[in-house]
Amino acid sequence: MGSPPDTSKSSKLERYNSYLRRVSSAKLLAISSQLLFRATLLAALVLILLFTLNHPPLSSFQPSSHSHRSLLASPFSTPSGASWERQVRQSSTPRRTDGISVLVTGAAGFVGSHCSLALRKRGDGVLGLDNFNSYYDPSLKRARQSLLSKHGVFIVEGDINDSALLKKLFDVSAFTHVLHLAAQAGVRYAMRNPQSYISSNIAGFVNLLEVAAKVADPQPAIVWASSSSVYGLNTDNPFSELHRTDRPASLYAATKKAGEEIAHTYNHIYGLSITGLRFFTVYGPWGRPDMAYFFFTKDILSRKPITIFKTQDGSGEVARDFTYIDDVVKGCLGALDTAEKSTGSGGKKRAPAQLRIYNLGNTSPVPVGKLVGILESLLGVKAKKNVVKMPSNGDVPYTHANVSLAEHDFGYRPTTDLAAGLRKFVKWYVGYYGIESKAKASVGGRNKGVDAVQSA
Ligand SMILES: NC(=O)c1ccc[n+]([C@@H]2O[C@H](COP(=O)([O-])OP(=O)(O)OC[C@H]3O[C@@H](n4cnc5c(N)ncnc54)[C@H](O)[C@@H]3O)[C@@H](O)[C@H]2O)c1
Ligand SMILES: *[C@@H]1O[C@H](CO)[C@@H](O)[C@H](O)[C@H]1NC(C)=O
Ligand SMILES: *[C@@H]1O[C@H](CO)[C@@H](O)[C@H](O)[C@H]1NC(C)=O
Repeated sequence: MGSPPDTSKSSKLERYNSYLRRVSSAKLLAISSQLLFRATLLAALVLILLFTLNHPPLSSFQPSSHSHRSLLASPFSTPSGASWERQVRQSSTPRRTDGISVLVTGAAGFVGSHCSLALRKRGDGVLGLDNFNSYYDPSLKRARQSLLSKHGVFIVEGDINDSALLKKLFDVSAFTHVLHLAAQAGVRYAMRNPQSYISSNIAGFVNLLEVAAKVADPQPAIVWASSSSVYGLNTDNPFSELHRTDRPASLYAATKKAGEEIAHTYNHIYGLSITGLRFFTVYGPWGRPDMAYFFFTKDILSRKPITIFKTQDGSGEVARDFTYIDDVVKGCLGALDTAEKSTGSGGKKRAPAQLRIYNLGNTSPVPVGKLVGILESLLGVKAKKNVVKMPSNGDVPYTHANVSLAEHDFGYRPTTDLAAGLRKFVKWYVGYYGIESKAKASVGGRNKGVDAVQSA
């Protein structure tokens, strides 16, 4: 019974031999993979060396190289190195005594670029942060960036959702203020890409507040952009900060309203000083291509029909309290200048801190038809109009700001009416896009002697 002993021996031997073979091949494998690893490392080092020699630093970014951005810029946007830190420090250091030092999120955006320039011009320290997303043409964001760079404002390319980056920034610079404007804007786009509103307007905002409350030393005061859209289905007029804001009509509005509640929490628990600003349809030079005044201009110039909304019940025209960018900038600076210091540190509140909300509007709603009329006369082109009922996809029929609170607390007083503001917008538009048309003559001609050229 059983297998003969020599058979068993030979099979043992065979197993032993195959064991040896396995061991030696494993060793061989280990040795060769080590060699491969070293070779790869060497190759990577050579490549990195080549890249650093050939790739310009972020600050000297030229608008002409946008197309390279996704390939080259992002791996190199990781904050590191002495020269990166020097740029951050230089940009955020005030140039006047008692100047403030402001981290501006969304600095490559419409409102952010204007505010950054205004702060810089009066001698404050400004550091920008923007992820240059492609919600609208990123080349416009790059052009704003290069304008800011000429004025000594550095924009770090990164996401407000990136807490390591934020910690690093607060580590390098002791910002006294954060002007938080980075957000996913737009009302109708929220139906196409709802998650982008959650990551930027909620997760990103919370991330920023976490770092501001627990890591930043001292805690900065925070001024941030809410929106008139929080009034939602409110019908009391004009909209006052005392009115209901619990009936948002879009996910965008809901995330802004959520932001206001989250602000309350961080103020209450950590002593952060927080001011929310409800902007009312901001427009002007360097504006946002996704907004009606902007794409109406584009479409009218290219003789494309435009769609104008009338109210759901068909009784009237949709109207907006259009607010000129320079007025909004004054409001933002007024809010920054009257913001009290935060009271906590290291995640501990020491005393109650300031918590505020303000409307920043123009106090004079204009029907969209009238907006089109003004554009027609500025452009010297008749619009092809398509009038349809407004779909119930988030837009509200009417906005009108009561700004007496902002006027009382920091002297906010809008001074630019829609016709004057659109003239400046159209002048910028035809210049920026190099449009040769009657528009140039019309805008330029009537503007003779008036310096309507916007610095931002
Ligand atoms: N323009 C208006 O009419 C208006 C009205 C009400 C409220 N607001 C609010 O004002 C603020 C500024 O608006 P805007 O018109 O200048 O818009 P914008 O889109 O031009 O600017 C926002 C900037 O933030 C950046 N950004 C977005 N998400 C980011 C993220 N996660 N991390 C880093 N950067 C990010 C974008 O790249 C963009 O440059 C926004 O919060 C917006 O919701 C604007
Ligand atoms: C932002 O943070 C949220 C929550 O942590 C995460 O789910 C999301 O992927 C992040 N988005 C980005 C762009 O980093
Ligand atoms: C505007 O709001 C203030 C309170 O902030 C209120 O006293 C005033 O009556 C309002 N004005 C109008 C016209 O409703």
